[in-house]
Amino acid sequence: MNTKGIILAGGSGTRLYPMTAVFSKQLQAVYDKPMIYYPLAILMLAGIKEILIISTPEDTPNYKKLLGDGSNWGIQLSYIVQKKPGGIAEAFIYGEEFIGKSQVCLILGDNIFYGKLDFLRNAIEQNQGGTIFGYPVNNPSAYGVVEFDADGNVLSIEEKPKSPKSKYAIPGLYVFSKDVIKLTKNIQRSPRGELEITDVQLEYNKRGKLKVELIGRGIAWLDTGTPESLMEASTFIHAIEKRQGHKIACLEEIALEMGFISLRKYIDTVNELPNCSYKEYCLSVVK
Ligand code: DAU
Repeated sequence: MNTKGIILAGGSGTRLYPMTAVFSKQLQAVYDKPMIYYPLAILMLAGIKEILIISTPEDTPNYKKLLGDGSNWGIQLSYIVQKKPGGIAEAFIYGEEFIGKSQVCLILGDNIFYGKLDFLRNAIEQNQGGTIFGYPVNNPSAYGVVEFDADGNVLSIEEKPKSPKSKYAIPGLYVFSKDVIKLTKNIQRSPRGELEITDVQLEYNKRGKLKVELIGRGIAWLDTGTPESLMEASTFIHAIEKRQGHKIACLEEIALEMGFISLRKYIDTVNELPNCSYKEYCLSVVK
């Protein structure tokens, strides 16, 4: 089944002020790349080539400048402006036309994953309604939290609960059938005036169509919400890149690996890059 991708990269980013006074959160550096490279890399590695980027009126031109139409990486990028931050689930309202009859994989622009992505590829292949992931964390109250029984049936989903019923946070990565548009139109705005992503998940669960897949220890899911966690994410990426000599989320390399572009196109694209360590790395990959 065709799967399209959405990256939600809006919001006010106030927790990172003054860094976000001029540029949005998802444009901040995570070690050697803008943050949005990482979720974009995840969608590409999952085999998704049609991707919609949703951001604020001020920031959307910056994303266009940074990423263009995606043709350098053999993908199609399009952009839609979210007028004001009215909730994560608004992505499906703004993205209605883009989603069409496809299923959709939504990733939040500030969510960084590292590790073997089979969990996502399997979810995309097997999804029947909605698939969310469960990731054990020390501070579940900061996230959407899922509680489930031994058979994997979802018992409850709560957004940032004071007393979490499990230690499993729901990362900002979701796979939904095309019905997500209809279901989102059914939900009410929460007291804070947002269309909550957890309410969409509950709609699927009510219909017996929600699956939760646990992500194991082999995957790192990194937070970038505060200056400290942003620095920790940078340190993590730096440590792995330095040790292995491989870059994480090098979009040119991923496009080549995934067969989205030819070697000729890769070399032409890389030759256009300004002289920098990123370019040297890209050149070294094909030497
Ligand atoms: O990171 C995973 C968590 O993301 C989930 O566990 C939660 O269920 C989910 O609500 C979300 O929690 P956050 O506290 O991170 O939500 P926040 O409102 O900060 O929005 C997440 C990102 O989405 C943020 O980078 C900005 C963007 N966003 C958010 C809203 C509400 C938009 O682009 N537009 C919006 O309207």
